[in-house]
Amino acid sequence: MSRENYAVFSTAKIGNLDLKNRLIRSATCEYKMAEDGSVTEIVLDIYRKLANGGVGMIITGLMAVTQGGKGVSGQACIDDDRFITQIAKIAEAVHDQDNNCAVIAQLCHSGRQLTHENTTADCVGPTAMPSPLLEKKARELSGDEVETIITAFVNGIIRAEKAGFDGAQLHGAHGYLLSSFLSPYTNQRRDCFGGSTQNRVQIIKAIVERARKAVGDFPILIKVNCDDHVVGGITKASFPELISELSATGVDAIEISGGIWDCLVRSEEELGFVPVPIPESRTQLDKPEKQSYYYSYVNKLNPSVPLILVGGNRNIEALETIIQEQKVDFISMSRPLIAEPGLPERWLQSVGSDKANCVSCNACLLYKDAFGCALKRLKFNRKEFEAGYAGGWKAVFK
Ligand SMILES: Cc1cc2nc3c(=O)[nH]c(=O)nc-3n(C[C@H](O)[C@H](O)[C@H](O)COP(=O)(O)O)c2cc1C
Ligand code: SF4
Repeated sequence: MSRENYAVFSTAKIGNLDLKNRLIRSATCEYKMAEDGSVTEIVLDIYRKLANGGVGMIITGLMAVTQGGKGVSGQACIDDDRFITQIAKIAEAVHDQDNNCAVIAQLCHSGRQLTHENTTADCVGPTAMPSPLLEKKARELSGDEVETIITAFVNGIIRAEKAGFDGAQLHGAHGYLLSSFLSPYTNQRRDCFGGSTQNRVQIIKAIVERARKAVGDFPILIKVNCDDHVVGGITKASFPELISELSATGVDAIEISGGIWDCLVRSEEELGFVPVPIPESRTQLDKPEKQSYYYSYVNKLNPSVPLILVGGNRNIEALETIIQEQKVDFISMSRPLIAEPGLPERWLQSVGSDKANCVSCNACLLYKDAFGCALKRLKFNRKEFEAGYAGGWKAVFK
């Protein structure tokens, strides 16, 4: 039985963009761009498979808006016009496979969470906040530097449009630079970019307002944390106010995620989940109640823009209930689509299990040089996977 009458497979809009269904690929860095910033065949193949797999919209892996903001090697850059022809190949690859599949460029500056091996760039943030985890203490950005960062994001949005993307997403989650401005934990500035929630959102407002002058109603989305999982950060209680302020910035949709790296020094008891790198990608989601782990955060929200829910979305019947409840408009997924780029189509056609094949083990995060799903290489044979796991995951990636 086809699920074509399911709410999950109904059409919807983000800004002026028509989406064929409610399933989105959440941003997933494949770490496979060439060091000179050119797009590799491996990257294009990932996007072709996703576009063929039935998802309504694909958000790319993060693209750095400045060279200093590049977090890891193999990440895409969007800080210079010379990269437009390269990233355009991603947009083209998606549209060539399915013109009804939208593709959005995710724009990022790593801020205080900089790990790129080759960079001498400073870790920067709104405030010089010490970290229990990070080696380098972030340097506080001057007012002029904040203006430069705003311009870099605006230019990134303009380049995304020129490259043929259907929109851009600001990465305002997971502790990276924009996230650190939104969080009261990392942002203790006393100028117009710090203090009240309204001031902490000011950097987003400035980016969107300035970008709109150049790109008009080109869709601009944002991914944010509903909980930083650190003391003094964004919490479930403060999130509704953040959403109201963000809705007023002119963004076209808000994707809800959570966690910053500093939370990893906390215990499972304090966090309510097992602290594994990276905290937004939780493990051990075997029980339904552990899945869609940020859904309980959307209860008291009254946004004027569509909401996208990410994190542990694993079962089509549960996702259908979520969409029917109308508290969020879209579901996004990362790891399930690493394991099965064709998952939306499989679910639509009711082939196999209602569950995604991904078991949320995070092996795909550990072995970046062999990007892909460990379990898939073993044809989803869990027994063999667990044996490989016992012998060290490297064996699985041979
Ligand atoms: C390999 C990998 C790369 C990721 N890269 C990004 C990224 O570039 N930008 C981002 O916002 N989130 C990134 N994430 C986080 C995911 O988008 C998502 O928020 C998280 O994995 C939870 O969703 P899931 O349970 O569907 O995987 C990445 C996750 C994984 C596993
Ligand atoms: S390696 Fe693990 S977490 Fe990653 S896609 Fe495969 S099953 Fe999912």
